[in-house]
Amino acid sequence: MGKVVLRPRRKRKKVELRDPVLEQVAALAEAEGIELYVVGGYVRDYFLGKKDRREIDFTVIGDALSFAKLVARHFRSKAVIYERFRTAMVPVGKEYRLEFVGTRREQYVPDSRKPIVTEGTLVDDLERRDFTINAIAIAVTGPEKGKVIDLFGGLQDLSKKILRTPKDPLVTFDEDPLRMMRAARFAAQLQFSVDPAIVDAMKRLAERITIVSQERITDEFLKILQAPKPSIGLKLLYTTGLLQFIFPELAALAGVEVYQVGKQEYAHKDVFFHTLQVVDNVAEKSENLWLRFAALVHDIGKAKTKRFIEGKGWTFYGHEEVGARMLRRIFRTLKLPMDHLEYVQKLVRLHHRPMALVQEEVTDSAIRRLIVQAGDALEDLFLLCRADITSKNPHIVRKYLANYDRVYQRVLEVREKDKLRAFQSPVRGDELIAITGFDPSPAIGFLKKKIEDAILDGIIPNDYEAAKAYLLEHLDEWKREIEARGIPTTRPKRRERSEASR
Ligand code: CTP
Repeated sequence: MGKVVLRPRRKRKKVELRDPVLEQVAALAEAEGIELYVVGGYVRDYFLGKKDRREIDFTVIGDALSFAKLVARHFRSKAVIYERFRTAMVPVGKEYRLEFVGTRREQYVPDSRKPIVTEGTLVDDLERRDFTINAIAIAVTGPEKGKVIDLFGGLQDLSKKILRTPKDPLVTFDEDPLRMMRAARFAAQLQFSVDPAIVDAMKRLAERITIVSQERITDEFLKILQAPKPSIGLKLLYTTGLLQFIFPELAALAGVEVYQVGKQEYAHKDVFFHTLQVVDNVAEKSENLWLRFAALVHDIGKAKTKRFIEGKGWTFYGHEEVGARMLRRIFRTLKLPMDHLEYVQKLVRLHHRPMALVQEEVTDSAIRRLIVQAGDALEDLFLLCRADITSKNPHIVRKYLANYDRVYQRVLEVREKDKLRAFQSPVRGDELIAITGFDPSPAIGFLKKKIEDAILDGIIPNDYEAAKAYLLEHLDEWKREIEARGIPTTRPKRRERSEASR
């Protein structure tokens, strides 16, 4: 195969990649006389200023697999070989993942994303990649070391913050329909705009996503949720029709129905676009993927429960419970890890509860029930509730936020009270028995209560020395009271005993 003469569109200065592992790989290639390039995400991130990436994609001119094995030997690692794709991955230490691919041409057969691979040139390799920003190469060997090969204007697209494909997007996406998900993912992750030709191609090829494995789809979908502003990617999935195939329950939230009573028209808000706003609000406050997922599905039961009731308007009664129950199936279909199901269900089920506890006269026990039901997710629940306020009216936003502050204050108060109730006399039962010579009996419980009350009333501090001194000072007086009131000092029957031995 003849050497390809590459002419970058713009002359640019050579770059110097300073990474100890990369340098060793380059030295190995140099020693073997192999021409080697870094490509893909590493180069993209390098130019975006993220220079500490540990996942490095290499393109080898020639036999990538035997070179990967050599690299693996050098680092005392083991190469994972994907024979069919002629690619290999070499883990180095805990952090590095080195991916090797030989220059190749890929041909795709209809209804499959598995390509037939034949030998190719560096140009072929770059051209078959998904986006121009992922199709920039940097030479790491030979006299051209450090040279940037940018055949499709990837650098310019990086600076213009736009996603384009090297080839016609219809071809690029037809070759691997997952790239449509990746378009949404990169748009959200990098906050880039998307070439209208990409949007058109996504609309035309949306259904082709169904030939891609669920694991790969879900992987990209979760990356969208992890992005700084997930709505960018989710909106693109919706407007191109992909969402309908990959998450129909979510797509079903879109749209506004209007009910007409006489001349009056009643519309509800678009639940899908409200949801996107809630997800973005949560994303601003938390990196927790499952909290973000809970935001995504918090109203998922609304499509099923929507009713117009005259005199009341649009209602979604019971959507929290209906939504929570839809989640097991959704988790299964999307192949999400089941150990997060309970947490997400809990948040969906409870997301209206704090609102229902706003009134002054709400009892401690209603608050306590929320604390117990939410458990560890209580703080996340309040974060979700606050994020759920998407009104454009600042007066309403302020009012609702103040309401949640008030309920949260009650939560703190009840927690504090319960903590006090659970606290125990610093002088424990065994010692009281030794001092008084009583059996474990109601009299011991009586003495403990005297000490606890003194602490709660602020007469003595909550510590052992003070409590013991206070006990000894008052013991004679309390013994007289025990006698006068006939409080048993001997071992009680079973039920009373458990009370005294606290
Ligand atoms: N690639 C592609 N089509 C795909 C997947 C990957 O063309 N469906 C190419 C792109 O050039 C990409 C490279 O393979 O940059 C590496 O892919 P991957 O590791 O999946 O993504 P990265 O771009 O590296 O992004 P990140 O690791 O940040 O997710």
